[in-house]
Amino acid sequence: MSDDLENLLHEERSFPPSPEFAAQANASAGLFEEAVDREAFWTAQARDLLTWDTAFTQVLDFSDAPFAPWFADGTLNAAYNALDRHVDNGLGERVAIHFEAEDGTGETWTYARLRDEVARTANALTGLGVGLGDRVAVYMPMIPQAVVAMLACARIGAPHSVVFGGFSAEALHSRILDASARMVITTDGQFRRGTTMPLKGAVDEAIAHGDTPIEHVLVYRRTGGEVAWDESRDVWWHDVVPRQSTEHTPVPVPAEHPLFILYTSGTTGKPKGILHTTGGYLTQTAYTHRNVFDLKPETDVYWCTADVGWITGHSYVAYAPLVNGATQVIYEGTPDTPHRGRWWEIVQKYGVTILYTAPTAIRACMKWGEELPNGFDLSSLRLLGSVGEPINPEAWMWYRRVIGHDRCPIVDTWWQTETGAIMISPLPGVTATKPGSAQRALPGIGMDVVNDLGEPVPNGGGGYLVLTEPWPAMLRGIWGDQERYRETYWSRFPGMYFAGDGAKKDDDGDIWLLGRVDDVMNISGHRLSTTEIESALVSHPYVAEAAVVGAADDTTGQAVVAFVILRGEFTELADEVGEGRDVVAQLRAHVAHEIGPIAKPRDILIVNELPKTRSGKIMRRLLKDVADHRTVGDVTTLADSSVMSLIQRGLAGK
Ligand code: PRX
Repeated sequence: MSDDLENLLHEERSFPPSPEFAAQANASAGLFEEAVDREAFWTAQARDLLTWDTAFTQVLDFSDAPFAPWFADGTLNAAYNALDRHVDNGLGERVAIHFEAEDGTGETWTYARLRDEVARTANALTGLGVGLGDRVAVYMPMIPQAVVAMLACARIGAPHSVVFGGFSAEALHSRILDASARMVITTDGQFRRGTTMPLKGAVDEAIAHGDTPIEHVLVYRRTGGEVAWDESRDVWWHDVVPRQSTEHTPVPVPAEHPLFILYTSGTTGKPKGILHTTGGYLTQTAYTHRNVFDLKPETDVYWCTADVGWITGHSYVAYAPLVNGATQVIYEGTPDTPHRGRWWEIVQKYGVTILYTAPTAIRACMKWGEELPNGFDLSSLRLLGSVGEPINPEAWMWYRRVIGHDRCPIVDTWWQTETGAIMISPLPGVTATKPGSAQRALPGIGMDVVNDLGEPVPNGGGGYLVLTEPWPAMLRGIWGDQERYRETYWSRFPGMYFAGDGAKKDDDGDIWLLGRVDDVMNISGHRLSTTEIESALVSHPYVAEAAVVGAADDTTGQAVVAFVILRGEFTELADEVGEGRDVVAQLRAHVAHEIGPIAKPRDILIVNELPKTRSGKIMRRLLKDVADHRTVGDVTTLADSSVMSLIQRGLAGK
């Protein structure tokens, strides 16, 4: 994809906002001027968008960089801001969530209903011994109760740690341990592609390790399947939540109180617990949601297709839309169940006006053909968003034409788990958009592209994306490992946050994201590290050594390709180098068990050697060339230059 981007850096197409859109837009060019005084700007946003229990007088304190407390002497509650204040303002009957189950049944959650259910759940959590500061793991499918669980935690000041329902018991176990969670909230199972899949079993398996501090497992009945039950520990949601009072006072917490921990992959094998706090996070997520999506809470129907297991589902499903009083759609299922027009059917059914999704989904829809979306009424749409990976210009143009009918602005939003909120994006109604470019840092955000020495590159140049100023939704560190926080983000370029992405500035100074420059892969917009999958592979008894690369893939952006050397005694299991399908199936299943099905390698190649430098470092670059079917680059630094031709021959025979 980067070749594609390289070629199109001389993009001539530009789509200025329509006068009608610009006339009604929330954002204006004036925002950039207002934001010149960054602290005054964020102060105004924090005051306008949130309700504080105690007003703050301090703004940013960067004296202990890279730690950046914002609004530190203010207090507030996230759930109060998301729910109660709207109900108190007479908006209780506004729809907060249109829930669409995979089977097409639906449920309407008004702000009043959501507030009451969150209050009851908060009372139940307190009754089960969860208190201020206790960590709660949430392992649930994409149903309203997942949002209820998150907001109930926020309501009592208990940081949640949501673990994506597609992660395995092993992945859940390591996250529970790292955060020392006291409770897990889960469901008996989930609906997926027309069948039910168990979920609680993975929680049981995680706790069976015997080393977690989990006291209770709160289980929402979703599918009605059989579950194993431990009377001393497990509690049905329907036994404890409905009988609670809806009287509950949200606990005001300091702005810097931890709101959640969310694990994400980095360059080492162990995922990092990214820590986000309350005041700054809510300020920037609400601000970006309002301006980047041009949200009009009275009339818009907003739909972000992300799962709450990822940062997009935290910031732009569970928090910002509710803080802004929006009406949103939550969909439990997959885009192709029971048919490939499912998403467009949902847009038509609810009259969705703002759609926020990932390039991988757009590319899948492109493959399925435009007759499908053409069969539904998409005229309600007025703005389209993209997130998670670079969007290739072809997909961007398709999105604009087929879904947006050449009428809707597209916002390509760049950000990360660590940034908490959108950082780079066109401003709808202001920016003339370019297919494939995320374009400019938002007002209030300091960003640049620098060379190896940390010097800004001129227009037309490429390098590393950095953030030059602290921002309100910035991560407050890595849970339990602040040294790793400094080292990972702040040591490569002193005084600047290193995002891990390569980027270019075009002749107009617009930013083009070029993908990760580290060992992080982006598979369907999901972040996985090569080392994490390598560790999973070498934990299998057959495997002596493994190297993983992200190969280019037309639909998923990247795909996991693994090169594996078997231990001597198992080599005969692979009938022939490059073959050994049974071994490959076992290894794929093992990766799914260790991490989750999303991490399963697309291809596993059994090899006799890996390309290494004389100092023993694996040259992944060369493996990536092989996986991408490119001519293999310079092999002169290899200890044994014949290795690559052996690997290629093995591959050719596959
Ligand atoms: O490489 C960038 C890519 O996704 C990474 C962050 O992944 P994660 O923390 O899982 O958050 C994804 C959702 C916010 C980034 O380092 N990325 C995200 N958005 C874009 C992107 N790459 C290009 N263009 C984007 N719009």
